[in-house]
Amino acid sequence: MDKIRLSLAPIAGFSDRAFRTLCKECGADLVYTEMISAKAVAFGDKKTHALADFAPVERPIIFQVFGREPEDLSRAVALLYERCEPDGFDLNCGCPVPKVVKSGEGSELMREPKRIEKLVRAMVAASPARVSVKLRTGIDDAHKNALICARAAEDGGASLVTVHGRTRAGMFSAPIDYDTIASVRGALSIPVCANGGIRDEQSARETIERTGCTELMIARGALGDPAIFTKLQNALNGENRRLPDPKTLLLRHLSLACAYKPLRQALPELRGQLQFYFKNKSGSARARERLMRSQSREEIRDVIEDYFKDDLSR
Ligand SMILES: Cc1cc2nc3c(=O)[nH]c(=O)nc-3n(C[C@H](O)[C@H](O)[C@H](O)COP(=O)(O)O)c2cc1C
Repeated sequence: MDKIRLSLAPIAGFSDRAFRTLCKECGADLVYTEMISAKAVAFGDKKTHALADFAPVERPIIFQVFGREPEDLSRAVALLYERCEPDGFDLNCGCPVPKVVKSGEGSELMREPKRIEKLVRAMVAASPARVSVKLRTGIDDAHKNALICARAAEDGGASLVTVHGRTRAGMFSAPIDYDTIASVRGALSIPVCANGGIRDEQSARETIERTGCTELMIARGALGDPAIFTKLQNALNGENRRLPDPKTLLLRHLSLACAYKPLRQALPELRGQLQFYFKNKSGSARARERLMRSQSREEIRDVIEDYFKDDLSR
């Protein structure tokens, strides 16, 4: 059987350098950055450039960019490649956030397949890195045009297309439309990656069976559980990786985050990120509450230590 390739999805506010490194250490084959504004990069915004920092261990790494003007995409890709040489660039055609959609970017691009082709062409020409596109199944049930958009991406020179199996109207909770992902996979000659609803071995197997894809992308299933990559590498690819201990993972997440970002920036982000590790177990609510009030790295470490104290079952 083909190797199943597992990628960490672009997740704004979460798939930063620390979390990507952790997922990579847990077995992710490929990691995506949070989405990066092509316009902001093209205009030299320093904060945006910081989103593109990464460590060599993260390779292969894909920078996800969003935008709608070929000149912005072309300039951003050229600048980012010159500075960081990522392995690839991914065009965001799935973001449903009103601010992004209003600017005609993200999922709004799915109304303009010709533009997708043009943008991909501009990105391909701007650097030697490979280019991919991340789509939804369409804007809504009456406008499911993932196949047309995916063909446009392929015509523009994309080397992979990811389909999140929901329409924009379906946001993040509609049932996954495996049939549309399967139809895109069947029609394209480049690889198609299936995304949406993969949280464990069962949902991963269902995705593979129903779409035929051997590329899987995981977003929320990895939040608070980067070891999902270890479990899936073992279950799907017959690997024999040691399952990381949850406490060690949490402490590692904390220390990576503090190493990569100034504490004043890392702390508020960590409160959002680490809460996902405290779930479905006694003491979780209390740990989350304490985490939200934590003001220092030491306080967070104490929350973690107390959560795992006297409970070998965790
Ligand atoms: C908090 C959050 C942030 C996200 N940020 C991005 C993003 O920057 N770019 C993108 O293409 N998708 C983004 N997504 C969508 C995910 O990559 C993914 O397509 C979606 O969550 C479905 O996968 P899942 O069911 O595994 O979560 C985001 C999702 C969430 C929940």
